[in-house]
Amino acid sequence: MKVVIVYSSRYGNGKKCVDVVEARFKAKGHSVEVLAAGQADPAQIPPADLYIFSGATEAFGLAKPIKQYLSGLPELSGRRYALINTHGMKKARGLPRMEKILSGKRMVKAAEIDFQVGDGTDKGNGLPSGFEARLSGWVDRLG
Ligand SMILES: Cc1cc2nc3c(=O)[nH]c(=O)nc-3n(C[C@H](O)[C@H](O)[C@H](O)COP(=O)(O)O)c2cc1C
Repeated sequence: MKVVIVYSSRYGNGKKCVDVVEARFKAKGHSVEVLAAGQADPAQIPPADLYIFSGATEAFGLAKPIKQYLSGLPELSGRRYALINTHGMKKARGLPRMEKILSGKRMVKAAEIDFQVGDGTDKGNGLPSGFEARLSGWVDRLG
């Protein structure tokens, strides 16, 4: 299957998640294209069997680049997507924000995963131990 991942990541926590997900899908023989939200045109999103959108919670909402990208998508009726969110506080506030935008695009949610980050976050090292295994298991359940 073809997987397209679109992410934004200020410090690298979310990018580390994307790297694990990309590697796992590729190891399973899938084709993966990764796009940075701030540099890609949502109107030109490539066709895919599964979309993965990844962005951090910021300011009690969603980081701007991924928010702008998702808002700019055309209607993608019936297309499957999965979400990744990292957040410093307890609640994964970015997830419902992403879901709300994408249900407006008539997309269908397949899965979501989130990680609360801790020490080292601003160096991209805030993810909890074992995040790679959790993400790999998540990918395996997606296909
Ligand atoms: C400007 C800014 C605002 C943030 N606001 C929140 C917030 O409201 N709630 C929260 O849980 N985390 C907040 N965070 C923490 C980020 O969600 C966390 O550091 C995340 O892992 C960053 O991911 P990234 O390295 O992929 O950009 C904020 C971080 C920044 C830089």
